[in-house]
Amino acid sequence: MIRKCLFPAAGYGTRFLPATKVLPKEMLPVLDRPLIQYGVEEAMEAGIKNMAIVTGRGKRALEDHFDVNYELEHQIRGTSKAGMLASIDRILENCTFSYTRQINMLGLGHAILTGEPLIGNEPFAVVLADDLCVGYPVGVLKQMVKIYEQYQCSVVAVEEVPPHEVQKYGVIAGEAINDELIQVREMVEKPAADVAPSNLAIIGRYILTPDIFDILESTAAGAGGEIQLTDALRTQAEQGKVIAYKFKGMRFDCGSPSGFVAATNHFYHLSRR
Ligand code: G1P
Repeated sequence: MIRKCLFPAAGYGTRFLPATKVLPKEMLPVLDRPLIQYGVEEAMEAGIKNMAIVTGRGKRALEDHFDVNYELEHQIRGTSKAGMLASIDRILENCTFSYTRQINMLGLGHAILTGEPLIGNEPFAVVLADDLCVGYPVGVLKQMVKIYEQYQCSVVAVEEVPPHEVQKYGVIAGEAINDELIQVREMVEKPAADVAPSNLAIIGRYILTPDIFDILESTAAGAGGEIQLTDALRTQAEQGKVIAYKFKGMRFDCGSPSGFVAATNHFYHLSRR
């Protein structure tokens, strides 16, 4: 049973400056909802009720978004706009939110380790809100929880990317279990195209077993001088405890302008149907 989802959300979002100067990048709206809300809704669909967010300086808007706003609600009550907060109401009725601050940004692995007090000793999901996922027929995390239930080990979502893009991702290789699952043997963070073990890139969805925290404690800085989650996962993979899953659906890289625009178009067309 996966009860908690961790959202690393302390990063600066430099690729969207100046928009992200005071606005957390997780609050950038795709159509009518901020990025982080898509992630929370995906976790909720997967049966997860406890959202654990690793924030940082200047990220208070995240906490305010997942809360009531009495003044605003009072203003729109009884008007045609009253239903516009329904998606938030649904989240607040079903979920709890807890927060911790990452003081120094030392990498994704460090952000996950910072979240340990919110997670404790149980398996948990991780959502990187920059990666906006649309799963078929159900959300990507829900697909992954099912795989976790069967294999009881860490699960990473992967997709094929063009070879010249592998250097942006964690890349895996291993033995196929079937058409959609791979027993991971190798993992490299941001490899050059000519040394990458494959073109299967990890996207921002993980189910992690809690031993990852001890491994992260002793994981040295890797690619980019940062403590990398991929390096800690490699330790688990060497013990045969990581499965990669070719998820069914689409991913928009909303950390880049082109992915962000594609996501906006996707949800716009959906809303017009
Ligand atoms: C992070 C991970 C990387 C993964 C990617 C998915 O990288 O370190 O392994 O492939 O997210 O979006 P970042 O995008 O933070 O550089």
